[in-house]
Amino acid sequence: MENRMGPQTLTVRAAPSLALIKYWGKSDALENLPATSSLAITLSGLHTETTVSFSNKQDSVRIDGREVSMERFAPFFQKVRAVFRSDARFHVESRSNFPASAGLASSSSGFAALALGCSKLIDPNAEILKVAELARLGSASASRALFEGFTILKKQSRHAEPLFPKSFWPELRVIVAIVKNEAKKISSRNAMELAKESSPLYQTWLQESDKLFESGLVALKNRDLEALGPLIRQSTLMMFSTMFTSSPPSIYWMPDTIALLHACEALRELGFSAWETMDAGPQVKIVALEKECPEILTLLQTQFPHLRFFVSQAGESAGLVI
Ligand code: PMV
Repeated sequence: MENRMGPQTLTVRAAPSLALIKYWGKSDALENLPATSSLAITLSGLHTETTVSFSNKQDSVRIDGREVSMERFAPFFQKVRAVFRSDARFHVESRSNFPASAGLASSSSGFAALALGCSKLIDPNAEILKVAELARLGSASASRALFEGFTILKKQSRHAEPLFPKSFWPELRVIVAIVKNEAKKISSRNAMELAKESSPLYQTWLQESDKLFESGLVALKNRDLEALGPLIRQSTLMMFSTMFTSSPPSIYWMPDTIALLHACEALRELGFSAWETMDAGPQVKIVALEKECPEILTLLQTQFPHLRFFVSQAGESAGLVI
């Protein structure tokens, strides 16, 4: 039962989880279990801050000051009440310091913060793996976003696991290029269901992603970007191949997306270790090493003066804002 004698409101902060080896597709849509194993980095500098309060009315959620439809959230709140055997109702106010629903993994930071906020409000001692299970129900990648540094979400697993702390690979950087600052038209949830139902490449994706995950894990353990980079790129392009070959296709890419992918190729030809990854959206993230970042950024900014770039690295776990 919830702790109604404790605080009536609390604020939590979570950062997005960027997959280096992607999760794409569900083995169980109702339970939101991932069909592929993913390997991810929790990003620094980006965050969602969410204030959760007990409510004596119905559940309600405001994102960036706007009341949102409860369609996506209702099953999540029901699950929170079932897990904690509570009848609590919640009012939620959430804000991110980066564009939402634009392929920057805002659902990972959003649901990580929401799951942590609701759980800690009901039970300040709620176990993190229980929170990670709840986060998965909202968005599978959110389960990873609860943990700092480098994380794993194994296929068919009910929660993510921490793999390495953020100090594990301090030289690793992620350059984020914002191609389009708008919410996407097709949610990743719909796009992955469409790929499962209609892409002739979907089964191949499932098989190949097992291999990418195993090799990616070894390369990450060795902090070997020359080995990890091609796997990051391959995981991204294989994932998009299932989107391009869905009926109807899900095409998130914009002209600048493709130009950036060519720019990464050109950077590698110049000898830089720069590896592109993307999520369900047009934005491009480039994984590189700290020592090469200033030169890579200068080259990118010269070629794309109209785009905004920022540099991130392995970040903090989700937590309470005191
Ligand atoms: O967690 P969801 O349902 O928002 O899906 C995330 C899917 C990708 O971002 C494309 C890949 C990933 O592993 O984060």
